[in-house]
Amino acid sequence: ITRVGVFTSGGDAPGMNAAIRAVVRTALYNGKKVTGIYHGYQGMIDSTMFDMDSRSVSSIIQKGGTVLKTARCMEFKTVEGRAKAYENVRAAGIDALVAIGGDGTFTGAEIFSREFDIPVMCIPGTIDNDLNGTDLTIGYDTANNTVIDAIDKIRDTAASHNRLFFVEVMGRDSGCIALNAGVAGGAEAILLPEKETAIDELIEMLEHAADRKKSSMIVIVAEGDKNGGANNVAKRVNEKFDYYDTKVSILGHLQRGGAPSSADRVLATRMGYSAVNELLKGNTRATIGIRGSEMVTTPLEEALSKKELKLNQDLVEIAKIMAL
Ligand code: F6P
Repeated sequence: ITRVGVFTSGGDAPGMNAAIRAVVRTALYNGKKVTGIYHGYQGMIDSTMFDMDSRSVSSIIQKGGTVLKTARCMEFKTVEGRAKAYENVRAAGIDALVAIGGDGTFTGAEIFSREFDIPVMCIPGTIDNDLNGTDLTIGYDTANNTVIDAIDKIRDTAASHNRLFFVEVMGRDSGCIALNAGVAGGAEAILLPEKETAIDELIEMLEHAADRKKSSMIVIVAEGDKNGGANNVAKRVNEKFDYYDTKVSILGHLQRGGAPSSADRVLATRMGYSAVNELLKGNTRATIGIRGSEMVTTPLEEALSKKELKLNQDLVEIAKIMAL
């Protein structure tokens, strides 16, 4: 390996910059050159690439978003798009890739690496914490903290008015943010994609809480919950339960931004460092992950085919008791 190409792809996540920085500095430390690729796979197709040195990643560890920009690229899903990307990658002298992103990024990396026999190592970067091969993804901790901060603020106003709030959080098909932020924010109920909650069951929970004279109530609704989002849940609950004045708050993309937490910065730094070292050892077509406190790798094929249940089942039960 003489030159490593690094890019971020899919949804941005806080901590991606820390990962980029670690990839660049570890590669340089090992005497390799580094090319930054803008806008993920789109940048390979458009050949928007640049030489990176140690100073290209100065003062980015504390920044949210990604300095390499990101995109969801449809053209890369075609054989022609990937062929064009490979031509540009080869012309730039890149002979190994580090891809930072979510499952779409992993899928693209797996196909590209097989098609053109180029070494690739992936780093899990998404707020959703929905990737296999790792306990945690970069950005998840920061997003949880952002959501908790929002819930705390909503609680202040909810308690002042005796209101019931439905707070919708991101996570795509994963309920990880909803569960963790719900427990940490003291939510009265949490609706998760992994565990269906019927509206009648939710109403029953709220009635019990009302009987216990709660001054406010917060229901966290994961965006992937099967009841169809916070607005829908609020409307259906309101039809039968009207003890409280009801409000809906959809947190949206603010959950993706902000300075990465200390945990995300350290995780991203360790992952970036490991990704380069694994490539240099000859490991390829795999993802970096963390299990407990250990860095591990998992073949992309395996990471993409199985479905780990990330949701902590104990926490689901604990959340109910804590809402008493
Ligand atoms: O994967 C991260 C994520 O923020 C999800 O939680 C959410 O469903 C999705 O991306 C939103 O995507 P976009 O930014 O393209 O609207």
